[in-house]
Amino acid sequence: MSRIAYVNGRYVPHGQAVVHIEDRGYQLADGVYEVWALFGGRLVDADGHFERLGRSLTELRIRPPMTRRALEIVLAETVRRNRVREGLVYLQVTRGTARRDHAFPNPAPPPSVVVTAKAVDWAAADARAAVGASVVTTPENRWGRCDIKTIGLLPNVLAKQAARERGAIEAWFVDDLGLVTEGASSNAWIVDKDGVLRTRDTNANILRGVTRRAVFELVAREGLTLSEAPFSPEDAKAAREAFITGAGSLVTPIVAIDGVPIGNGRPGPVATRLRALYVQNARAL
Ligand code: PDD
Repeated sequence: MSRIAYVNGRYVPHGQAVVHIEDRGYQLADGVYEVWALFGGRLVDADGHFERLGRSLTELRIRPPMTRRALEIVLAETVRRNRVREGLVYLQVTRGTARRDHAFPNPAPPPSVVVTAKAVDWAAADARAAVGASVVTTPENRWGRCDIKTIGLLPNVLAKQAARERGAIEAWFVDDLGLVTEGASSNAWIVDKDGVLRTRDTNANILRGVTRRAVFELVAREGLTLSEAPFSPEDAKAAREAFITGAGSLVTPIVAIDGVPIGNGRPGPVATRLRALYVQNARAL
């Protein structure tokens, strides 16, 4: 089954899906993106991702390329043409193509829009989650606006690669206060020694994770206690459990941080339960 991508108004074979060399995303990382998990052909947490997309575009003063309804049609059509039912859908919007100049082009060109869909075997991901994964910590070195989901991801790329080379799936950034901000492509959580779920508050320099927000609701429904109180790597190493959330990782238990086992070194009951509930909700859409 050959893959199809949406590029600026056309559905094209993946191998021929190209943007101009002076696309400002390509030259300047002047753009934003979103990623949706796809279960049973449906976008998970669709509203949250669309709302954040709107916010990211507003913050960067990139005009919306089309209405939400039109965008939904493009996403659905890309999914359909790829015959993907389970996977991830990627959307990228850049400020468009213009002669290279750091300042915004005037008049503004039409924003560039790219959509891809790829299959993910969520059952295989569940099986990996049941074993648990490791993270490593790394000094925070990103810009001050990580609340905007920009395609400028070089620190994240380098941190993720360093994690991979150390046998971990994710890197947790640690800021100047010695506190974990978030992962390179996920939000970071612990269940502390008192059983309180903790994840960094959104006044800190983090992405407002859509999955994070959805998990807040599951946490409330389960009668668990949540605190948006920061934690250090030491707090995390002494925690009962740790986990990450994101459109790609859903809820994934973390069983070691910097090589130190968390709890008994196996996925904890809270993270395991939250993943099951999250997947159950995604499948019930
Ligand atoms: N990443 N923090 C960062 C830095 C992220 O890049 C992501 C998502 C998250 C989790 O956000 P959400 O729950 O809305 O997916 C947190 C996506 C999946 C990616 O870059 O592929």
